[in-house]
Amino acid sequence: MREMRNIVILTGAGISAESGIDTFRDAGGLWEQHRVEDVATPEGFARDPDLVLRFYDMRREAIQTKQPNPAHEALARLDRDWGGELLIVTQNVDDLHERAGAGRVLHMHGTHLNAWCTACDARTPWTGPMIDRPSCPECGARSLRPDVVWFGEMPYEMDRIHSALRQADMFVSIGTSGAVYPAAGFVQEARAMRVRTLELNLEASQGSRWFHETRQGPASQLVPQWVDEVLGG
Ligand code: OAD
Repeated sequence: MREMRNIVILTGAGISAESGIDTFRDAGGLWEQHRVEDVATPEGFARDPDLVLRFYDMRREAIQTKQPNPAHEALARLDRDWGGELLIVTQNVDDLHERAGAGRVLHMHGTHLNAWCTACDARTPWTGPMIDRPSCPECGARSLRPDVVWFGEMPYEMDRIHSALRQADMFVSIGTSGAVYPAAGFVQEARAMRVRTLELNLEASQGSRWFHETRQGPASQLVPQWVDEVLGG
């Protein structure tokens, strides 16, 4: 086994579940209550923008009432105390990693707390609603949409993620079902580079068989335990 210097972590909705934010595919999850095609595709937005803006307004409002849990806090501690390279790639559009204090975070599916102007391409921090079609602070156009990657759109900063995976010694996947690509393929990419791989998830995921090691349980327990192991050497 090579010495561990560079760590890449992928997080998904499961890490925020214990903060009270719904996952997508668990029982009662978001995709059980809404059709993905209606609220998470460019075509759905074109068809019924009010439905989509209202859906994201509610989610944006809700996440601001939630707090980071011990799993986010443990990763923030790792970010602070780990001397090697670290990249936390999150599929989550909440800001709980940052609010726990983590800095090395990449939001590959965007963030609820940005507005994206489709007229001038500016991205602006945004905490309020968009349903009333507010104007873009940069260009004034009423063309704002949530800065969230929808199905059929390209996730953000893929070059940076591939490069981090190539240089990684350890890849850890936390709280994600392994159902959505390209994130679901990171473990195979890491394996091809002979990177050690670990999954921390409540239950077996669709990608579990690809990992060298899998541990099952709630993120609020598994993640602090793993961070203790890493920082304890
Ligand atoms: P999913 O809802 O697909 O999966 C959440 C995973 O977290 C499941 O495997 C659960 O078993 C696990 N889980 C639930 N509670 C947990 C806990 N307390 N501790 C640990 N694990 C727990 O969410 P994602 O995999 O993040 O994309 O979904 C990936 C993407 O699909 C999302 O980013 C979103 C969605 O469609 C877009 O909207 C583009």
